[in-house]
Amino acid sequence: MTDTRSTVDGFVIRDAKVTDAPRIMRLVNELAMRHVMLPRSPASVIEHIRDFVVAETDGHFVGCGSLHVVWSDMAEIRSIAVDPSCQKRGVGRAMAEHLIDVARRLELPKVYCFTYVPGFFEKLGFEVVQHQDLPHKMFNDCKNCPKFTACDEIAMLRVLRDYTPEEKAGGLTLPSRPMRIG
Ligand SMILES: CC(C)(COP(=O)(O)OP(=O)(O)OC[C@H]1O[C@@H](n2cnc3c(N)ncnc32)[C@H](O)[C@@H]1OP(=O)(O)O)[C@@H](O)C(=O)NCCC(=O)NCCS
Repeated sequence: MTDTRSTVDGFVIRDAKVTDAPRIMRLVNELAMRHVMLPRSPASVIEHIRDFVVAETDGHFVGCGSLHVVWSDMAEIRSIAVDPSCQKRGVGRAMAEHLIDVARRLELPKVYCFTYVPGFFEKLGFEVVQHQDLPHKMFNDCKNCPKFTACDEIAMLRVLRDYTPEEKAGGLTLPSRPMRIG
């Protein structure tokens, strides 16, 4: 595994390890209890640990965020969270920009998020879109959510690059909508 890391104002952003999972769960679920983000189960954090980055200062965990590829043309920024004692110091921005760089390296044309803090994502160049504009998210994740018919999160999208002519022509040989197998 190659570790990707960046440093901003004394904070290190690095790929998460399985040993970070308890801290990630604690932070995300403490914030979720304040109704500012959705909770994550232990299984969903551990299974997706390679999606996560963590932020540290002097070796202490202060935040996390993840980038989950949902389809050939988009990924979701999920579970971005900063310890309340370190908020408003650029850590959230540094993690989000790190994850957006990962998306660029993967040559993804778009990243999106579902959030209760649109102002934070607006600062990062995201724009509000309709939930229906993100069909793969709706199909894969939302269908099992108790809030499916009454979702109060705001969908936001950032375009990273134009589609290639091949992509526009559907040349990736992927269906435009996900297929169920079995
Ligand atoms: C939202 C959160 C991740 C932002 O992290 P942060 O480290 O406090 O934010 P930053 O200091 O990097 O702020 C970056 C910019 O966003 C702005 N910003 C931060 N939080 C904001 C908010 N809630 N509303 C509007 N703008 C916000 C900052 O003012 C800053 O703007 P500037 O660059 O013009 O100064 C953090 O407050 C948090 O963990 N909140 C609880 C969990 C949550 O809501 N997560 C999002 C789930 S999708």
